[in-house]
Amino acid sequence: MSLLTIESMTKTDIEEMMHLAVEFRQVLDRDIPKVPTLVGKTVALLFYEASTRTRLSFERAAKALSADTLTFTPGGSSVAKGESLKDTALTLKAMGPDLMVVRHGATGAPWRVADWTGLPVVNAGDGAHQHPTQALLDAFTLHDHVGDLAGLRTAIIGDIRHSRVARSTTQALLTLGAEVTLVAPTTLLPVDLSDWGVKTADGIDEILNDVDLLYLLRIQQERGGGAVFPSIAEYVGRFGLTRERAERLADGAHVMHPGPMNRGVEIDPDVADGPRSLVTDQVTNGIAIRMAVLYSLLEGRSS
Ligand code: NCD
Repeated sequence: MSLLTIESMTKTDIEEMMHLAVEFRQVLDRDIPKVPTLVGKTVALLFYEASTRTRLSFERAAKALSADTLTFTPGGSSVAKGESLKDTALTLKAMGPDLMVVRHGATGAPWRVADWTGLPVVNAGDGAHQHPTQALLDAFTLHDHVGDLAGLRTAIIGDIRHSRVARSTTQALLTLGAEVTLVAPTTLLPVDLSDWGVKTADGIDEILNDVDLLYLLRIQQERGGGAVFPSIAEYVGRFGLTRERAERLADGAHVMHPGPMNRGVEIDPDVADGPRSLVTDQVTNGIAIRMAVLYSLLEGRSS
């Protein structure tokens, strides 16, 4: 069994994964934050795109479950000698891992790796397409702070078009019953939103008084996101969560960001570190959620 897209998970699936993550979070809080659950298993991490949080978090999760890890990044590898994704995946498979975690710039790459290797695969981000464990950790973090997500008013702000996080987290929020408004310049919205099930707004001020969660995204320069609006100052003027705007939010409203943050662009530094921010909780919860995912896929519980 693989975890390739959040769309494959029902509300019950997501809730079960969150329950499991609560148990694993208790393990992480112990003096010795490790259990022997996956001793003898090996998790291969195949990361073709840059990553800080996701890669380290999968590694920490695997090790907390006593699995071994094999990490591949293209820098310094035979990719420089022209080795293909298929040959790299098959080479890693020949080293005997039980599961592969795959991040790649091309949509669908984790599906191909699953086909080629016959191994369970977790999609850790494929192009602008899917990032299911980010969606799970976001739902988990939010659930921790607000309880049931039904009817929760959420807004995702920034470069939606190029963001696998926007796609995946929107789907998880909708599956759990929240409402989602996407806030972005038209040029940073997907061309066709008809099957997304969301509302849209074209400025942050429009939604500030009516949200329980603001979820900020950076502009994905590497996917062309920076070329479509005139200047950073103009972007901040219409879409940035400045300190002044954060002060106008309702008392219980929360702020999230998947990282990496561009402080001073989509989010003011003080807001990122302030009391509404759940950014570091997202990181910590990411480990527990990934422990739950690895455990479910390797030990055959629900996924
Ligand atoms: C994101 C990603 O790589 O999709 N980061 C993450 O996984 N936490 C978001 C981004 O790169 O902006």
